Amino acid sequence: MYLIDRVIHDRIVEKKIRLDEKRPLPASFVNRLRKELMIEYTYDSNAIEGSTLTLNETRLVIEEGITIGKKPLSDVQGAKNHPKAIRFIEDIVYNSDKITEEKILHLHEIILKGIDPSAGNYRTSGVFITGALFTPPRSNEVPQKVRDLLEWLNNNIEEFSPIELAARFHHSFVKIHPFSEGNGRTARLLLNAILMKEHYPFIINITNRDRAKYLETLQEADLGNLEPFVNFIARSTERVLDIYLNALEEPEILTLKEASLISPYSADYLGLLARKGRIGAFKKGNKWMITKPALLEYVNEMKEKKKR
Ligand SMILES: Nc1ncnc2c1ncn2[C@@H]1O[C@H](COP(=O)(O)OP(=O)(O)OP(=O)(O)O)[C@@H](O)[C@H]1O
Ligand SMILES: [Mg+2]
Repeated sequence: MYLIDRVIHDRIVEKKIRLDEKRPLPASFVNRLRKELMIEYTYDSNAIEGSTLTLNETRLVIEEGITIGKKPLSDVQGAKNHPKAIRFIEDIVYNSDKITEEKILHLHEIILKGIDPSAGNYRTSGVFITGALFTPPRSNEVPQKVRDLLEWLNNNIEEFSPIELAARFHHSFVKIHPFSEGNGRTARLLLNAILMKEHYPFIINITNRDRAKYLETLQEADLGNLEPFVNFIARSTERVLDIYLNALEEPEILTLKEASLISPYSADYLGLLARKGRIGAFKKGNKWMITKPALLEYVNEMKEKKKR
């Protein structure tokens, strides 16, 4: 039985094929996008953990290596460490065949270097997870449980789709909670190692905006229902595919009449928004036109506004 919703699954497969058809991707494009996604990923993963750095501050720390006054040094250090951890994940993906216990410990060491004395070591005492209804295993059981999980991973690569495999691994890993700190950040990167090994694009980002959903679906998984979490990861995967495809493919250009057919707005209303400069429309001759991404951006923006 598939846990991924059939519709989402088919959409992802179709998008992945479309992206793979464009390979090899232009190097300059990949480098630019990689840099941008790395900054966003660093921002989000550290923000989920509670870092106070904004996206722009994260960018400054990574690109200029500077320290942000008034912000905790550990937050700045966290932002500096993450790109190194991401590079290590890429190294695992491209230069070795398996994720090993040693590599997991090294990954943890990179993530928490200069922040936490436990960097690179399993926890040596009990731990609680805020919001979870269960207690993770005793610390003396951790190393064996991690090894068992890795064995499970290697034995089940053919058994599950990559997204389901990565999601199941992620959940099991955070359930073991091998470390006193940095479990989520390590697990989110390991999820990427699994997906990138299966040629999913750099890098599946669990955003801080989705934090509540991430934690809720993990909680549901604790109760034995993995479906919401697997689908949550599937949607995060689809988002990165969209980023690549939107950047690589010529955007579809619509007349306002066409735009009205795929949005909740009439052509007249879209014309009004265009004249007021409220949507990213432009004139071709004397006719208003809009790209599909610009239209969808407006539709989503309005949806978000309604929610608030
Ligand atoms: N109900 C739950 N079941 C399983 N795992 C959970 C649950 N709630 C949270 N977690 C995991 O525990 C992580 C938090 O653990 P920890 O503080 O060690 O990680 P972190 O990397 O320091 O922080 P964060 O993951 O918040 O960035 C969460 O990110 C999530 O991955
Ligand atoms: Mg933490």
